[in-house]
Amino acid sequence: MKISINRDEGTPIYRQIVRQIREMILASQVPAGFRLPPERRLADALGVTRATVVTAYDELKSEGLIDARVGRGTVVLSAKNPDPSVDGLRQLSWSHHFRDEGARQPDPLVRNLLEMSMRPGVISLAVGLPSPQYVPAQLFQQLIQRVMEEGGAHALLQTPTEGHPPLREAMARWLTTRGMHCSPDEVMVLSGSQQGLQLTARVLLSPGDTVIVEAPTYFGAMEAFRKAGARMVSVPVDDGGMQVDVLSALLRHHRPKLIYTLPTFQNPSGVVMSLERRRQLLALAAGYGIPILEEDTYAELRYDGALVPSLKAMDATGVVLNLGTFSKILFPGLRLGWMVAPRQVIRRLALSKQTEDLHSSTFGQWAMERMITEGHLESHLNGLRKVYRRQRDVMGNALDASRIDGMRWDVPLGGYYFWCELPRAVDRARLSAMAAELAVNFLPGYPCFVDEPSSHWVRLNFTFPAPPEIEEGVSRFLRAVKGAIAPRQQGWDRRQAGTRPIV
Ligand SMILES: Cc1ncc(COP(=O)(O)O)c(C=O)c1O
Repeated sequence: MKISINRDEGTPIYRQIVRQIREMILASQVPAGFRLPPERRLADALGVTRATVVTAYDELKSEGLIDARVGRGTVVLSAKNPDPSVDGLRQLSWSHHFRDEGARQPDPLVRNLLEMSMRPGVISLAVGLPSPQYVPAQLFQQLIQRVMEEGGAHALLQTPTEGHPPLREAMARWLTTRGMHCSPDEVMVLSGSQQGLQLTARVLLSPGDTVIVEAPTYFGAMEAFRKAGARMVSVPVDDGGMQVDVLSALLRHHRPKLIYTLPTFQNPSGVVMSLERRRQLLALAAGYGIPILEEDTYAELRYDGALVPSLKAMDATGVVLNLGTFSKILFPGLRLGWMVAPRQVIRRLALSKQTEDLHSSTFGQWAMERMITEGHLESHLNGLRKVYRRQRDVMGNALDASRIDGMRWDVPLGGYYFWCELPRAVDRARLSAMAAELAVNFLPGYPCFVDEPSSHWVRLNFTFPAPPEIEEGVSRFLRAVKGAIAPRQQGWDRRQAGTRPIV
């Protein structure tokens, strides 16, 4: 069996392995029952991590092309009939039916991180989830019960695609108190802000269009833009947010279709865009006539520093689309988010949403309306800010306690994350392996960049783990970092440079 890896190809290594083994199986070059090499042996032979081969094998298993057999290792199933027959009828071979998305396949990073975070014993500093301890479950249960008593079947039937009208009214009032003066028909309810990213991409972008993103930026947004076939050009972020002077030159040259920014407590960097830059950005976007998609996901979670108005609150020309979510300030299982936009845009987004999920959960929207109008959201937010400020300080102190030369971070004024620059001598693949061994996970920084960053970054979350876990998690993580500064082995760097994270 011959597999070759091309690190200049731009396709993640594990997908190259999947593609080649799949082709060999489908072309019957390897017969049913053939034993694939053990993961570690193949990893050594190709000069990749074992995790890369594990992910490739997992993918082939999910396609029904191979299977792990006790005592026999990993074996090839029949290409024509990967699944065993039942009563003489052949099972459909799904692997022949999936569209080949090639290099465009979505990155499994988020799925892998979530899956690993749920494993017993693992401390997760990787995910962007709220604290399970402070999810208002009991309150939500009471609200649902009341909604069901009062609304009966109506709370379970359909609702307009743009959202449950009383919720849109409540949200317009709530957003107006935040400086975003809007009417209910300028607010659309979404099934999470990820849906807002997908819909915006679908409505505004055509293949080949350029989108301006920040460097770093939210990787889930890049996935949505990529899926729409857009090209991304990035503008660096510093202490004052997106470097708007750099943007100015790019606008002239690239004529982008969209500018995507997370101006307040940016994910992943935690940075807040200065008021002056917000003014400059709005002026540039209005001057060139380019829409801004502003993600305000973390804006409500401010622990220190002065309030800076959202771009939407400062927008005089209708150039800003404001996207937000209840996932970070309540709980992600609710799957509710919002978009504030001119009516014309809401209409187009709703048409697009209709083909995606018809509307967001009806009883969730009814309960959310109560959550806002009865003041529960506001008091929950007040409590959350205190808890998360404490957790942020626990993480800051834990990082301070064991300083590593060349490791740098700023204490975030809000949001969910510490964004840390690691010493150059830290080997990326080795750090992932060491962290996995120590049962801690983190988000590697490079998927947050369009182009390979010149520094080595990681994102650490302080809201999901409880304070004792934050301390233990940071201690494990720093041990992993120290372990990954080991003297370099000849050739190690070059061999690992092309691998994608399998976290
Ligand atoms: C910036 C940003 N946008 C969107 C999302 C996804 O949120 P939702 O659960 O609302 O789809 C996240 C979650 O991490 C995020 O950080």
